[in-house]
Amino acid sequence: MKPTCHIADAVIGDGPADSPVESTLSALGAALKARDAGTHAHSQRLTSYALALGRLLGLPRTELLTLERGVFLHDIGKTYVSEGILRKSGPLSRTEWVEMRLHSAIGYGIASSIPGLRAAAPIVLAHHEWYDGTGYPRGLKGSDIPLGARICSVVDTVDALTSVRPYRFPLSMVKACDQVWSESGTHFDPLVVDAFLAIPPAEWEQLQSSITRRLRLPQPEQVLSVRGRSSRRACTAFRRTF
Ligand SMILES: [Fe+2]
Repeated sequence: MKPTCHIADAVIGDGPADSPVESTLSALGAALKARDAGTHAHSQRLTSYALALGRLLGLPRTELLTLERGVFLHDIGKTYVSEGILRKSGPLSRTEWVEMRLHSAIGYGIASSIPGLRAAAPIVLAHHEWYDGTGYPRGLKGSDIPLGARICSVVDTVDALTSVRPYRFPLSMVKACDQVWSESGTHFDPLVVDAFLAIPPAEWEQLQSSITRRLRLPQPEQVLSVRGRSSRRACTAFRRTF
């Protein structure tokens, strides 16, 4: 049977689609998709973005493979976050944030318990650390944060800014690039920011469109044009799609 979720076309991979590690990745991806399809699509986009950056930074194949797996699984811990929090459209309360922030440590526990995914677990744990040490869960700083997590942090933010959300319009890739540049050295590793900005915004947009087509999701402009006719109806349609 064809896997529900296979990341091979992103992608590096080190064996056949039915190898134990690929099968486990497919199963975890399917679990995330069942729990929150929006997060699953986000993980697919991030995997492609991160690999583009990893290649530009000259990572060897084994590190690219670890990067691919870590970024694909970065939010797997959200399968344990309550649905009310995951689907909440407004700001989270203090208590809800405490639960949400547990997802990186929970994801680490999941990835590190699977032999073929252990190398990727530190990326999952550290993907919300900030370069200046003000992130979570451990407040790691600079190069103490695994490079894969520093890459994940940049592409995670870019995708959040440029994706359609039920409660706001997406930023253009150009504006997302400005935002990334403005947070270089605080939120993000300047080395990773430089690599990200070395790729023109139009190329990032092309990659974004190709992944959206592959996942058979509506392009942002399709969602926004429907929203223009009836924002309430469009938001409902969007929620069903994701
Ligand atoms: Fe996350």
